[in-house]
Amino acid sequence: MKKLYQPIMINKLELKNRIVMSPCGINNTVDGCMTDQDVAFYRRRARGGVGLIVVANLQWDKVRYNPGSGAHIIEKRTLPSLKRVTDAIHEEGGKVFAQLLHQGRYAVRAKYQGEQAVAPSAVPSRYTHMEMPRELTVEEIHQFVEWQAEAAANALEAGFDGIEIETNSGYLYGQFFSPLTNLRTDEYGGDIHGRTRFLIETLTAVRKVIGPDVPLTIRIGGNDFVPGSCNSDDIADICELVDKTGLIDGFSVTGGWHEASVPLVTMELPHGTYAYLGKGIKARVHVPVMMGNRMNIPKAEELVERGDIDMAVMGRPLFADPELPNKAMAGRPDLIRPCIGCNAGCLDAGLKGIPAGCISNPEANRETQYMDAEGRLPTEVKSENPMKILVIGAGPSGMEFARVASLRGHKVTVWEKRGRTLGLTLLAATPPRRYDIRYIGQWQERVCREQGVEFVLNKTATVENILAAVKEEGYDRVVLACGSEALTPMFPVEEGANVVQAWDVLEGNAEVGKQVVVIGGGAVGVETAEYIGEIGTLTADELRFMMIFDAEPHDKIKYLLNHGSKKVSVVEMQPKLATDINPGCRWSIMMRVRQLGIDIYKSSKVTAIKRDGVVIENEKGESFIPADTMVLAMGARPNNAMLEALRAAGVTADTIGDATEVGKIPDAVGAGYRLAAKL
Ligand SMILES: Cc1cc2nc3c(=O)[nH]c(=O)nc-3n(C[C@H](O)[C@H](O)[C@H](O)COP(=O)(O)O)c2cc1C
Ligand code: SF4
Repeated sequence: MKKLYQPIMINKLELKNRIVMSPCGINNTVDGCMTDQDVAFYRRRARGGVGLIVVANLQWDKVRYNPGSGAHIIEKRTLPSLKRVTDAIHEEGGKVFAQLLHQGRYAVRAKYQGEQAVAPSAVPSRYTHMEMPRELTVEEIHQFVEWQAEAAANALEAGFDGIEIETNSGYLYGQFFSPLTNLRTDEYGGDIHGRTRFLIETLTAVRKVIGPDVPLTIRIGGNDFVPGSCNSDDIADICELVDKTGLIDGFSVTGGWHEASVPLVTMELPHGTYAYLGKGIKARVHVPVMMGNRMNIPKAEELVERGDIDMAVMGRPLFADPELPNKAMAGRPDLIRPCIGCNAGCLDAGLKGIPAGCISNPEANRETQYMDAEGRLPTEVKSENPMKILVIGAGPSGMEFARVASLRGHKVTVWEKRGRTLGLTLLAATPPRRYDIRYIGQWQERVCREQGVEFVLNKTATVENILAAVKEEGYDRVVLACGSEALTPMFPVEEGANVVQAWDVLEGNAEVGKQVVVIGGGAVGVETAEYIGEIGTLTADELRFMMIFDAEPHDKIKYLLNHGSKKVSVVEMQPKLATDINPGCRWSIMMRVRQLGIDIYKSSKVTAIKRDGVVIENEKGESFIPADTMVLAMGARPNNAMLEALRAAGVTADTIGDATEVGKIPDAVGAGYRLAAKL
């Protein structure tokens, strides 16, 4: 058996395997208490075989408390609700730690009942739009230590098996570690001993309360990734110092601060990239090191097997598939529903303070909405009325429908006009660093085929051939998941102008010249512009070669990474681009657009396309952008023309996904799931 699936001891606690669910605030709490939804969410994850679950963001400050966030573990009245969560995890054979967390200067006053944030020093943050925190007094620091000892005792009373102190992501302890945010001249500032004093006092007090045998760990960012703050060497020094105290039983290593300019959790980050941070810390400490951030099973197996880290930590992958550990241990990692690192359903929701979910898995953190009285999800219950169903379209909505319907006992056939599945998601996965998007559809197709769904590719549906199939093959129902069609321009287009659709460029069906104008600055337009802008920049292999052999100085390499072969412009009518990209992904995409030197024309209307460019109008008047290729990214409309004719002919038919209303992947997947769950 691979090491990842073997037991490991954390202090006196045995974990059945080395996969850890990282702390993820899912924002279901009501009045500081965990809810039925929390119980259902964690029960499912524990049932899926994960060795350890860390319950996130348990608040211990008696004065500053965010009711929309994690449970308020410092109040005794919340403990029965926490006990329901730990009982559920234990009943399913799992173990569970409590993560004690304080946001320090990251606390937004409005969310904390009007209380001003407190921090080592009065240093504001971009993250809170520069709200000014107040410096903690020494008495308050002592008080914080006591409160955490009290919170740790409460955690044990609520059934937790261990305690994790949160020092990562730029929250309170990280602010004490950092010379950027800790300007104190007393015993809690200055050198590394001063900056870690608060943590070590906390660990000492917590250890006293929980006794020598209960696991106590800290979670720490391996590099703040903020200029002037702690880098990976500083953090490794801190870990060594903390390890030497003998107070803790493990380190859980993650990425950097919320303010970091380096992506920490987005799709751009290759799986397991930050393992080097865990490996670096492991070389300096004696206790087990767990490491996360965009970990997947192949990487986790490799890193643990090689001994680079002791355990693999996964958060979002267990949103996407709670059964991930069981499937991996059964030798079927191919059946794991993928997390694509989009943040659209989880982190973005989490940061907004609304319940987190997953675009790939409509059940995630919505279990109680779908469960029957016996706690079973629609995917676990057979339909009372099994049918023969024809689905038109093998995009994310059609395949999700087919997947869930076939699990419920329906016999499903999918017709697809292209010679491939995935619909438009394959195009969304074409721009640079968006590769993972295709994994959702690839997984849907794989499990559909495994469940006996029949796919008929290169089959264009018409009203006539659908009616014939209904008659001859006895379909009880038709589901139209035929997606959308691209909109075409309302303005004049000069004959001979080279005008192509963005979808055709991404599909590889249209060539672009040297000077390109993309018309439409929504997600499709911006990502297509980025795709074209990247053409001719250094590839990963070329970059590696240049770095290994010092072929060019750093500045020149950077230049070659940022300068491709095409001049690209984007014209958008709205004052802001790509507002339909979720915030958790948008910032890094826009950063790349700027790096590539793509010209942006906001609040600008295209009035005509000429053979040699585009005429635009904005508040400065009319102007002309020279171009040899015009790429249209002007939106789409539902492709649902067959619905009425089928219904008129007496066929039970529905539309789902883009065929109902043009939306995004979660809308499509959710629509497919919900319709199948009802049948
Ligand atoms: C919705 C959500 C909430 C999170 N809340 C916390 C938290 O309260 N404490 C914490 O240490 N990390 C938190 N994280 C970060 C995760 O623990 C994890 O480090 C991050 O998602 C990257 O790992 P992954 O790629 O395995 O998901 C949160 C992540 C998500 C998606
Ligand atoms: S919403 Fe996206 S990033 Fe979040 S868990 Fe689902 S697939 Fe992963």
